[in-house]
Amino acid sequence: MDEAPAQPAHIAALALAGLRARPKTLPAQLFYDEAGCALFYRITELPEYYLTRTERAMLPAVAAEVAALLPGPAALVEYGASEETKAGFLLDRDRAGAPAFAAYVPIDIAAPALAALRARLARSRPGLAVHPVAADFQHHVALPGAVAGLARLGFFPGSTIGNLDPPQARAFLGTARAALGDTALMLVGVDLRKDPALLLAAYDDSAGVTAAFNRNLLARLNREAGADFDPAAFDHRAVWNAAESRIEMHLVSRRAQSARLAGVVLRFEAGETIHTENSYKHTIEGFAALARDAGWRAARVWTDPAGLYSMHLLAG
Ligand code: TRP
Repeated sequence: MDEAPAQPAHIAALALAGLRARPKTLPAQLFYDEAGCALFYRITELPEYYLTRTERAMLPAVAAEVAALLPGPAALVEYGASEETKAGFLLDRDRAGAPAFAAYVPIDIAAPALAALRARLARSRPGLAVHPVAADFQHHVALPGAVAGLARLGFFPGSTIGNLDPPQARAFLGTARAALGDTALMLVGVDLRKDPALLLAAYDDSAGVTAAFNRNLLARLNREAGADFDPAAFDHRAVWNAAESRIEMHLVSRRAQSARLAGVVLRFEAGETIHTENSYKHTIEGFAALARDAGWRAARVWTDPAGLYSMHLLAG
């Protein structure tokens, strides 16, 4: 397992590319340092952030149905897997009197989180073969040779697919299909389009945790790339973009100001924004069509009783 590159020069180059663009952006991959992961975990527990809670409530029944559809002992291949809570609902399932999954392949960019995950699973599920892959799941990820003889279930929970724009989401699903093989199944959590007031609350909570998560991008550049941003001089703003069907996250400069990053002086007008993330919201039919465009068959879909969230089972 290789450590993902996190050198100051690499981080500064990534950030500068976005901050020199117009409108300014910062790459979402910078959100998830240790402080960012801790803040994101707090987001998942917020009363306004219905996504994690809703998906978790659906998973026991969904996992039972999916496990029954597997053609034989399987490998669970999770994209963006820094912890095992969601996978656990699938890994708990039996099929034909034996564990449904013989192997687990968590794929994540955060190598330290993967190492910790493997250590926990060695204790909690000693019979399970765990093969972590430290990689960016948007690129082709070859499966470890050790799972070659197993059936495959791809798993992409948390509506992380919503952080990809539709062309990127299609490309990801096509790449995953190529890696998993055309007899695989794939289970994807997809947040649904709904009343913008509910969406805006989920991405701009009253306790300010999402705001802190967004500002942590600037604090991280100060910590790791020697920048001198004043994070408190930027407001968090969530915007519903109906035409694109997405929530946008921005950092808005409260005043005219400048900051230094890697020897470059960056100027911000009062009210100028840095666009930091998108979270696309799909309709059930829209997502099924996107999956079909990527070569999958939309085999089944589940929603929660309130119709907030969906889980799609795709077949090869
Ligand atoms: N996958 C999460 C989502 O789109 C990520 C997320 C939640 C997020 N809140 C955020 C990303 C705030 C940036 C800012 O729901």
